Amino acid sequence: MPVLRNIGRLVTCRAEGRQDDVHPVERAAVVFRDGRFVWHGPDDALPATYAAEEEFDAGGRLVVPGLVDCHTHLAFAGWRADEFTLRALGASYLEIAAAGGGIRSTMRATREASEEALVARASGFLDAMLELGVTAVEAKTGYGLSEDAEARLLRVIGHLEDRRDQPIVPTLLAAHVIPPEFENDREGWVRLVRERIIPQSAGRARFCDVFVETGAFTADEARAILSTASAHGMGARLHVDQLADGGGGLLAAEVGATSADHLEHTSDAGMRAMARAGVVAVALPFASLYLRQPPMRARAFLDAGCRVAVATDFNPGSAPSYHLPWAMTLACTMSGLTPAEALKGATVHAARACGIESICGSVETGKRADLLVLDADSEEQWLYHAVPNAAHSVWLAGRPVQRSPRPS
Ligand code: NIG
Ligand code: FE
Repeated sequence: MPVLRNIGRLVTCRAEGRQDDVHPVERAAVVFRDGRFVWHGPDDALPATYAAEEEFDAGGRLVVPGLVDCHTHLAFAGWRADEFTLRALGASYLEIAAAGGGIRSTMRATREASEEALVARASGFLDAMLELGVTAVEAKTGYGLSEDAEARLLRVIGHLEDRRDQPIVPTLLAAHVIPPEFENDREGWVRLVRERIIPQSAGRARFCDVFVETGAFTADEARAILSTASAHGMGARLHVDQLADGGGGLLAAEVGATSADHLEHTSDAGMRAMARAGVVAVALPFASLYLRQPPMRARAFLDAGCRVAVATDFNPGSAPSYHLPWAMTLACTMSGLTPAEALKGATVHAARACGIESICGSVETGKRADLLVLDADSEEQWLYHAVPNAAHSVWLAGRPVQRSPRPS
């Protein structure tokens, strides 16, 4: 039963209270058994029964729960660095998509890649994320966009879920954009998603997500898709209000979504509706930054009574970075979260946004012993200084993680 002692500051991130209530314990110790927390508290109150166990020294550092990246498009092939340059020269995301780039370009690359190659690449990303302290990850499909290719991406994500000792949450995003084969038959694609892809994904995908935007899907199509998904046991998540106010906050509340993500243009009424319905508001600062959108108004969401999560949105187009701590720093500078709020947003509230808050996201007895030990003395110092990787060590289910080579 390992004991981690001499923790300078343990930020437990229990869910209750305001978003800045991170429930810290100064000069703390943590005990785990079989990969779960069994005790935590002040170091000088460590019960004598644990004092003789295998002991690790945190060296007076800051310790936080393992981070949860609750919104990624992890399974894809290729990159789209050319679009990064085109956008710098003034092209918009929608113009690039209309010219055959964007999501459909990654779809072509992903369809051509082998299942093994997709697994290997996503595993490399997960290893690199783990080194940053990201111990749980949600992963969306959405670059297959055919019956077979979406099923294949769910298999890729399922493989990672089975083989890796960290929570991976599969989300079906067959409603990402209309695939080229259905260019002139969007009803046909929505029908295929509802009648075949969702039923075949039941039991594999935990959530169903829809991208509601010009060039993607309408609110009515999202309602229809998410009601079918719900009948097949999937929770609802939404990409909404990213490029314009499409009434996404209201829609998310109406369908009882677990989370609504992006939200750069959400109205005050949408925020209030989300708060009443308990929809987690997920800030994706990389996407706002890369697509030059106004930042999500996180402070207004908090004032309206929402929980705000922070995620990377890792994908080859709008958010090509998996660096969640850096996204947390940007959530502070761009969206006005305090470091404490950003931390709760990337731990317990993020876990809630992807349905895993009962197993991880905070230091609480019975939860997975996933921990990040940081070369910083406070969450404020950590996110403010923002070194490339402040992780001193990462613990996954009570075991220290070994470092691995960087993925390409
Ligand atoms: O969350 N908005 C839709 N989907 C992704 C972008 C995917 C892509 O550009 O490949 C996002 O930003
Ligand atoms: Fe996304």
